[in-house]
Amino acid sequence: MKILRLPGDKSISHRALMLGTFTRERSRVRGLLTGEDLHSTARVMRQMGAVIPDLNDHELVVNGVGRGALFSPTEPLDCGNSGTTARLLLGAVAGLPIEAIFTGDDSLRSRPMRRITDPLSALGARFDELGGEGRLPIRVHGGSLRAGDFTTPHASAQIKSALLLAALCAGVEMQVTEPTRTRDHTERMLRSMGVRIEEEMLADGSNRVRLHPAEELGGLDIDIPADISSAAFLLAAAILGVTPTVRLVNVGTNPARTGFLDALQAMQVSVERENERETGGEPIADLVVGAQPFVATTVQGTLVPRMIDEIPVLAVLGARAQGETMVRDAGELRVKESDRIRVVVENLRAIGVEAEELPDGLIVQGTDRPLKGPIRVANDHRIAMAFGLLAAQPGNDIRIDHPEVAAVSFPDFWPMLGVQP
Ligand code: S3P
Repeated sequence: MKILRLPGDKSISHRALMLGTFTRERSRVRGLLTGEDLHSTARVMRQMGAVIPDLNDHELVVNGVGRGALFSPTEPLDCGNSGTTARLLLGAVAGLPIEAIFTGDDSLRSRPMRRITDPLSALGARFDELGGEGRLPIRVHGGSLRAGDFTTPHASAQIKSALLLAALCAGVEMQVTEPTRTRDHTERMLRSMGVRIEEEMLADGSNRVRLHPAEELGGLDIDIPADISSAAFLLAAAILGVTPTVRLVNVGTNPARTGFLDALQAMQVSVERENERETGGEPIADLVVGAQPFVATTVQGTLVPRMIDEIPVLAVLGARAQGETMVRDAGELRVKESDRIRVVVENLRAIGVEAEELPDGLIVQGTDRPLKGPIRVANDHRIAMAFGLLAAQPGNDIRIDHPEVAAVSFPDFWPMLGVQP
């Protein structure tokens, strides 16, 4: 059995650097992800006055400067490939008397931002769309934000978190209603810092979160769980027999994130959860799985937001499952680091798997034939890692054009998988 300690959760790591700066206390953060997206958050926050040391996953001490001490950067804030950096910080800056230009790489500059800027504009923030059509670069004129009550049509933790951070920074109340419950790491971390946040599940399944203004924020002292979105690739590698049986230790099992485990169960895969416990307000467990046969499944409805980042790896498993795998209700995949519906289907076809695009999902026919062909990762870390599993399967002949993009969220992915792409 291979025992693996995977990198820290990306969503929680971003929030730890941000909230660790917004408090005036000192925070201790262990297990931070040190991938490229986190360097983007650290870099742009330093440009606004944050005191964040060089990133490491042992113990990082963030000396909080307090929301009020942040200032307008002299240069544009380059968020690289990171949607979470851009969206959450667009929110925070909208709540502070700061003027800043946000930008990013080609992928990020093509992603929609009005889902964040529209609600914030209605509350008094101003945005200049320098990239046109709701795209980065965007100049934010923050400050004088009013309290708000928003219902968002998208099940997106980035939207919810941007609005909550805007209110936190502006010192106003905010209520956000999302169509279904998305990851709640912001809420959990803010609560641990003493912020009053109420949550209510409505009769139609939507989720309402209300944040009350907080004068002082407590410091953080957290062990960041391993990222279940990274774990998904190693679980799939073991199931496919690309690695021996694995034990992935201290993986975050927040119910808003464990949809992939539910999908695996529906595929008749047995994953053991052991040592279930909590750290820093987040549930964690060790996950143990080995090679086994599995069947196709359908992923739709409220399961989708609970495994939104795991759909590429699910589709890859679908290529090796017995039967037809289908994903529905996942139109959000079209606005991730790449159009993940199009890119997954194109790549599956390029290596000889039958696959079809749907407007809001995809269909994959499982096969046990050897697979052969080129993979175009489209600057998307999760596409590179998902297809990397098929490239590592003996008998296949698959070339990944840019394996190095895995470093965005999982710098040691290839050595941990045990292959040199
Ligand atoms: C994230 C939320 C999700 C997810 C992204 C990280 C977050 O995006 O896909 O990788 O940290 O809040 P959406 O909020 O756009 O669904």
